[in-house]
Amino acid sequence: MRNLDEQTITQAVIARNADTPDARLHEVLTCLVQHLHTFAREVQLTEAEWEKGIEFLTAVGQICSPTRQEFILLSDTLGLSTLVTAQNHKKPAGCTEATVFGPFHVASAPTFELGENISAELEGTPWFVKGTVKGIDGEAIPGAEIEVWQADDAGFYDVQKDGMDHYEGRGVLRADSAGHYHFQTIVPEAYPIPHDGPVGKMLQALNRHPWRPAHLHFMISAPGYERLVTHVFREGGEYLDSDAVFGVRSSLIADWVQHEPGITPYGFESNEPFYTLDFDFVLNKNTH
Ligand code: BEZ
Ligand code: FE
Repeated sequence: MRNLDEQTITQAVIARNADTPDARLHEVLTCLVQHLHTFAREVQLTEAEWEKGIEFLTAVGQICSPTRQEFILLSDTLGLSTLVTAQNHKKPAGCTEATVFGPFHVASAPTFELGENISAELEGTPWFVKGTVKGIDGEAIPGAEIEVWQADDAGFYDVQKDGMDHYEGRGVLRADSAGHYHFQTIVPEAYPIPHDGPVGKMLQALNRHPWRPAHLHFMISAPGYERLVTHVFREGGEYLDSDAVFGVRSSLIADWVQHEPGITPYGFESNEPFYTLDFDFVLNKNTH
């Protein structure tokens, strides 16, 4: 195939990919080429802009490391993560909504017994979190696996800290035989997503801030149910309507109740104010 031009190049590429053995890969690549070419035609992409785009994506790749996932940040800040989450987790009314996964989950978080403190001695305001994991028909889900992760009260995750040698503010628990869970931690604060790299520069160029409202991450799994990846946000917190990664859903905003110094839910005396959160999760039946 020779002498390809503005009109004929798209079909030529699609035709060249015709023998892709994997049918889904073929479908995705055909559509990607079509949209990519349509994009370049629509904006009349200049060579300087194309180069800038290549430089940007190169920088996104170069800053990635086992603890820094700039491509996820890019997907999140462009709303792609929320779109993919929304179209893959349509659920019956009453189920807890899913939201973005984010880049700070780790696969090997420590396990805890119910009632333990997952904060690993982080300084901060004590927080007592509890609730029930249920199915859509109201049935308790005994033994559901509940993974939580959170920022500290300065807005940093453990994996962002230089020289980190132990996990902080993350853990895996199991609901009891009635589906109840409870644990202690500290109250996490709102934080900016990492913005010292190319995604941060992009946000700046777009006159956008990098902040996320305060939240606690949950990933809940149980046999026979769809895995739920979600957050619980703080009612009244800043940035609920301008989350840098478009992850807020009204149904996930809850009252983080402040208490004066006194007896905590675990029966011991706290001489500083503390918070409680009571949040139930409703899982969808496994649909695949
Ligand atoms: C998070 O909530 O951990 C997160 C989500 C998206 C981008 C950065 C952080
Ligand atoms: Fe987070």
